[in-house]
Amino acid sequence: MPKIPDSIVPAPLRKPAKPGQSGAPKGQAPADLKASPPERPTHVERLTDQAKDAPADVLAWVDQRTAASGFLTGMLYRKVPKGTNWFYTLGSATLFAFIAQAVTGVFLAMFYTPSTTQAYASIAHINNEVPLGQLVHGMHKWGASVMVILIFLHMGRTFFFGAYKYPRELNWEIGVVLLILTMLMAFTGYLLPFDQRSFWASVVGININGTGPIVGPYLSDFLRAGPELGATTLARFYAIHMLLVPGAIIALIGAHMYLVVKLGTTAPPWTKIAKPKVAAPTAQLDAGVAGNGAEPNGASPAA
Ligand code: HEM
Repeated sequence: MPKIPDSIVPAPLRKPAKPGQSGAPKGQAPADLKASPPERPTHVERLTDQAKDAPADVLAWVDQRTAASGFLTGMLYRKVPKGTNWFYTLGSATLFAFIAQAVTGVFLAMFYTPSTTQAYASIAHINNEVPLGQLVHGMHKWGASVMVILIFLHMGRTFFFGAYKYPRELNWEIGVVLLILTMLMAFTGYLLPFDQRSFWASVVGININGTGPIVGPYLSDFLRAGPELGATTLARFYAIHMLLVPGAIIALIGAHMYLVVKLGTTAPPWTKIAKPKVAAPTAQLDAGVAGNGAEPNGASPAA
C-alpha cells in the first residue's frame, strides 16, 4: 500500500517520529512546532482544567488513604448467578425504604415534640404549617407500611429460593433480627402522634406483649415504663424509635450486606446446573473421536 504523505494526515493521527528522527537537527524543535508553537494555556484555562480534574483528584486522594476502590470494584462488579431476576431486587428495595424512612424521620424530628401535651399539636403543625411538612410526614407514615411489606416479600423470596441454607444461615438469622427490629420501629412509631388511635393501639400492643411466656410481663412493664401509659412511655418509645433501633438496624444491614457480597447470591432453584464437559477417554482420542462429538480437528461429525 502506498504511504500516505504526512502533510495530509491530521497531526494527532500521525505516527510519532522516533527520537532523533523528527527531521529537525538534534536538540531543536521540529519544523511544524517552530512554525506554530503551541499556545500556553491562560490562567483561566488552567483553573478550568484543574476544576474539571478535581473530582478525580479527590477520589484518588481518598483511595490512596483507604484503598477503598478494590473493595468497591469487587462489590460493584461481582458476578451474579444466571437466572437472577426481579425478585432479587426486593432486598435493595427494602434498603431503599429504610433509607427513605431515615431521611424523612430526621426532618420530622426537627419539628416533633415528644410530650403528651404537645406531640399531637406538633404533628398538626408539621402537616398544616411547615413547608412540605405534609408530604414528608405522609412519606414517613406510608413508607413504614411499604418497608414492612417489602421486608416480608424479601424474606419470602429468600425462603422460597432456599437462600437460608448453607452457607447463608447466619445471614438469614441476621435477617430475622432485622425483621423483628423493623416491626419494633413500626410499633414504637405508631404511638408518637399521641392521638386516641395511637394511644389505644399501643395499650393493646403492650398488653399483647404481656401475654408472652416468661419474658412477656417484663417486656410489657419495660415498654409501658410505669403503671399506666403516659409521658415516660412516650419518651421511651421515642428513644427506641429514633436512636436505639435505627442504630441496630444500620449495624445489622452492614453485616447483612457484607455477607451478601462475601457469599454471593443464590441461583434460582429452577436453574439447571450446566453439566461439565467430560474429557474424552484417551482410547477415543487415539481413535480420532473427540468427547464432545466433534472431530478432533474441530469439524462437525455430520459434515
Ligand atoms: C432491613 C431489612 C433488610 C434489608 C435492607 C435486606 C437487604 C438485602 C439485600 C440488598 C440482599 C441482596 C439482594 C437480594 O437477595 O434481595 C439481601 C439478601 C438476603 N437477605 Fe436480606 N434484607 C433485609 C431483611 C432480611 C430478612 C428479614 C431476611 C430473612 C429473615 C433476610 C435474608 C436474606 C438472605 C438469606 C439473603 C441472601 C439471599 C441470596 O443469597 O440469594 N433479609 N438482603
